Amino acid sequence: MARPTTLGVFACRKRSGEKIVVLTAYDLTSALIADRGGVDAILVGDSLGMVVLGHETTLPVTVDDMLHHCRAVSRAKPSVPIIIDMPFGSFHVSPAETVGHALRLVKEGGAAAVKIEGGRCRADVIRALLAAEIPVMGHLGLTPQSIHRLGGYKVQGRGSEAGEHLRDEAAFLEEAGCFSIVLECIPAPLAESISNQLTIPTVGIGAGPGCDGQVLVFHDLLGLFDGVRPKFVKRYAELGHEATEAIRRFGEDVRAGAFPALEQCYFDETGDDE
Ligand code: KIV
Repeated sequence: MARPTTLGVFACRKRSGEKIVVLTAYDLTSALIADRGGVDAILVGDSLGMVVLGHETTLPVTVDDMLHHCRAVSRAKPSVPIIIDMPFGSFHVSPAETVGHALRLVKEGGAAAVKIEGGRCRADVIRALLAAEIPVMGHLGLTPQSIHRLGGYKVQGRGSEAGEHLRDEAAFLEEAGCFSIVLECIPAPLAESISNQLTIPTVGIGAGPGCDGQVLVFHDLLGLFDGVRPKFVKRYAELGHEATEAIRRFGEDVRAGAFPALEQCYFDETGDDE
């Protein structure tokens, strides 16, 4: 089936029941790979703070960091929409300042929508973003920007009270006008029942198969990042090991005088300039 190239893909997939596939990307190459791999949307996640910039959490990531990477993703001219995380601090300010930050992400970064973590406590900023014509994706459950309040990267929504709270937050985000909600690291049965209760699609990460779609971090899926590996990550390749091995072989060849060989050299004749 052809992939719709706008955010309309989210509503379309919810109606048809076909799963939504989202992957993070942070630069030209990862965006080209994700797009060619057939994803439905690209998320420029603030996870870039950890897998690209080397921070221990996503908290230090700035609007300028996000913009820098989103511009590179946009230059890949992906055929699918780009959604961008609003980083920590960029929407914990007044609605007017939040809109200012989001407008930069859309106008300068080329994103079609922003994602913000949190539920009811974000009511004012969600309203302001939507009034500024900026579509909003919600994010509930394990919200990494709340790491200090949550006390660690732990499963959220366990037990009936916590589950009801999440269900209520999801209903609020739908009512507020979000086009989709990421559910991160919550029990699979809860995610399934929230997904069934909503008319907007959920995109899960560590939330089981009952969500309307799934998202993974590029580096996790491809085995490029050796940091913490949560249970919910499935590695579809081990490119980190392959890359290290390729570099080791390059070193071996250089030291043995086997690289460059004649086919990698230029000579006086013309026609070999490529
Ligand atoms: O920052 C990110 O990559 C995310 C996804 C994992 C949902 O928020």
